[in-house]
Amino acid sequence: MEEATIHAVDNWLEQQLIEEDPALSEALATAESEGLPPIQVTPLTGKFLYLLALSVGARRILEVGTLGGYSTIWLARALPLGGTLITLEIDPKHAQVAQKNLERAGQADKVQIKVGPALETLPKLGGYAPFDFIFIDADKDNNPHYFRHAVRFSRPGTLIVVDNVVRGGKVINEVNPEPEAVGVQTLMRESRGYENVTGTALQLVGTKGHDGFALFRVS
Ligand code: SAH
Ligand code: DHB
Ligand code: MG
Repeated sequence: MEEATIHAVDNWLEQQLIEEDPALSEALATAESEGLPPIQVTPLTGKFLYLLALSVGARRILEVGTLGGYSTIWLARALPLGGTLITLEIDPKHAQVAQKNLERAGQADKVQIKVGPALETLPKLGGYAPFDFIFIDADKDNNPHYFRHAVRFSRPGTLIVVDNVVRGGKVINEVNPEPEAVGVQTLMRESRGYENVTGTALQLVGTKGHDGFALFRVS
């Protein structure tokens, strides 16, 4: 299919289904003007995460990889009064932009950004567990570690979403795979080792090219 058609369809679906939203548009504009890489989830995917979290009645959400807080705002909006979201970010500049964006979106009171390498901040989150919904979207080579902690911090019914499991097909590269592909391959293999974890994955095409996400449920 033509790339132009894929983009046009994404834009059309977005117009059909995503209402004008100053807080989210401003979050994107601020992220761009502050020089953050434009790698946040698309509006359609952000709303998909929001609907998933809302559907499972998530009260405690964990996110690994904050960037400018775009996905964070979508997820925080799924929380009921008194709900909490912990989001992990290694880059202080990203965290600062995200904090500002969350404040403008009126979501800052529900969200705590923990700044540092997630390999250091994540193991310390036992006091906030169990989480009801977990979104893993940081450095892909560490995905197996993040996934192990995510399962440990889950309860029966927790959903775990892992972004970027396709990367234009790089993920099936068995000969000399990139570290990020190894991360996804290892995560997939290890996920089968848990008798209480079952998952699937969907390929996506859209304004972010060809990628996809995996969805796991802990029982
Ligand atoms: N979830 C965001 C996008 C995240 S992009 C959204 O959709 O809006 C990935 C983020 O992970 C970047 O901000 C990057 O700085 C951060 N990151 C990379 N390595 C990390 C690490 N080791 N620990 C925590 N965050 C990391
Ligand atoms: C890219 C996309 C992502 O969703 C992400 O989390 C990291 C990088 C990218 O397109 O490079
Ligand atoms: Mg991503």
